[in-house]
Amino acid sequence: MERVLSGIRSTGKLHLGNYFGAMLNFVKLQHERECYFFIANLHALTTHPDPIELRKSVQGVLAEYIACGLNPDIASIYIQSDVPEISELYTLLNMLAYKGELEKTASFKEKIRKHNENINAGLLTYPVLMAADILIHRAHKVPVGKDQEQHLEMTRNFANRFNHRYNTDFFPEPFAYNFTGELVKVPGLDGSGKMGKSEGDHNAIYLRDDDKTITKKIMRAKTDSGPTKENSEKPEEIANIFTLMELVSAPDTIDYFNDKWNDCSIRYGDLKKQLAKDMIDFVTPIREKIVDLDQHDQQLKEIAHQGAIKARKSAQETLSGVRELMGLTSIWK
Ligand code: TRP
Repeated sequence: MERVLSGIRSTGKLHLGNYFGAMLNFVKLQHERECYFFIANLHALTTHPDPIELRKSVQGVLAEYIACGLNPDIASIYIQSDVPEISELYTLLNMLAYKGELEKTASFKEKIRKHNENINAGLLTYPVLMAADILIHRAHKVPVGKDQEQHLEMTRNFANRFNHRYNTDFFPEPFAYNFTGELVKVPGLDGSGKMGKSEGDHNAIYLRDDDKTITKKIMRAKTDSGPTKENSEKPEEIANIFTLMELVSAPDTIDYFNDKWNDCSIRYGDLKKQLAKDMIDFVTPIREKIVDLDQHDQQLKEIAHQGAIKARKSAQETLSGVRELMGLTSIWK
């Protein structure tokens, strides 16, 4: 069966963009394929080294994964640093990665721009660690956004280089999983672009946001001075509000406000109040599950433990194959 693998860096809380852009697809895929979903805390370490924050974030994201519907009885759900085989494969793959190709990776160049006070080797070899994440389970499909396409291409290069050097077909070529037509881009609340945590806290609605916070953020979303001509095209910030509505509101509600837009009688205050209400109805059950899991950390620990056991079993199989091919079997065995 085709293996699917993906991960999210534990650098904060999940927002609606993560939910509709990634989590919903993970939840669906777990019923169709052999799935591995993990929390990339080693990758988080390249830019977010605070140990207390890191640990909190890992546990928080795990609760969010489960609250969104990832099922640890079906998929392997684990924390990257609980699977030391990944780090060993990373060491081995480093011998196949060229300095030149790492230096010209787009994400590396962007990170040196943003973190020029701490350009560590972990940032440079980020794509090698990501390749180790994927190749350790010999995954075929990797559901990720467009921004990760180059990392996947590098993973294929490392895999092919390994196969070529050791005269084998041990690693399959992994490809980005395309949700053609299904991938929803969730806009942010500041009028332009997508929802993201780097755009500031007011731009994103987090799955952990309470009712008051959601209302406040939505009521502050950018709008214009209103339509002046009947049936006119919506400017981006208004179109964004309607896009968010389409994610959480009933079709009748959307029709109602579209009609109001078209005959120029729309009141943005009403539109936003309605969106806030529907958003709260949507987020509340998810938030309640998250909070419940936060309070039952014994359950989370058990999930992480079982996930590590499952992931390590598959990882050890791959790693012993790699060691064998590379000539790293112990001479005393
Ligand atoms: N680099 C990914 C991101 O920033 C996170 C990630 C790390 C990942 N390892 C992975 C995604 C392996 C898919 C597969 O979003």
